[in-house]
Amino acid sequence: MPKVLAQGKTIECDMGANLRKVLLSNGIDLYNGGSNVINCRGIGSCGTCAVEIEGLVSQANWRDQARRSLPPHSPERNLRKKCQTKVLGDVKVTKYDGFWGHGSQIVWSSLL
Ligand code: FES
Repeated sequence: MPKVLAQGKTIECDMGANLRKVLLSNGIDLYNGGSNVINCRGIGSCGTCAVEIEGLVSQANWRDQARRSLPPHSPERNLRKKCQTKVLGDVKVTKYDGFWGHGSQIVWSSLL
């Protein structure tokens, strides 16, 4: 089973599991500030669930690519939308600051 390292926790999940659901069901802080209330609940339209992922995951689908191509996100940034991402191997997840998780300061990582 793949392992997901996030916010200092190690979580095992099924191959192909949705990363947002894995983190949500294990008490990981998915969103920053007000985006905890104002978000699309995983349909892929808001972009507030953006994280940096190291490890094997599904290719970015059109919903992931489309929203991250619009400000304040940038297609140049190595972020993914966790609600549109399937876990395909061991992964480390890092969350950055900002309403959309688009900032430059780490909020939490695989270690803390
Ligand atoms: S929760 Fe809105 S895009 Fe992922």
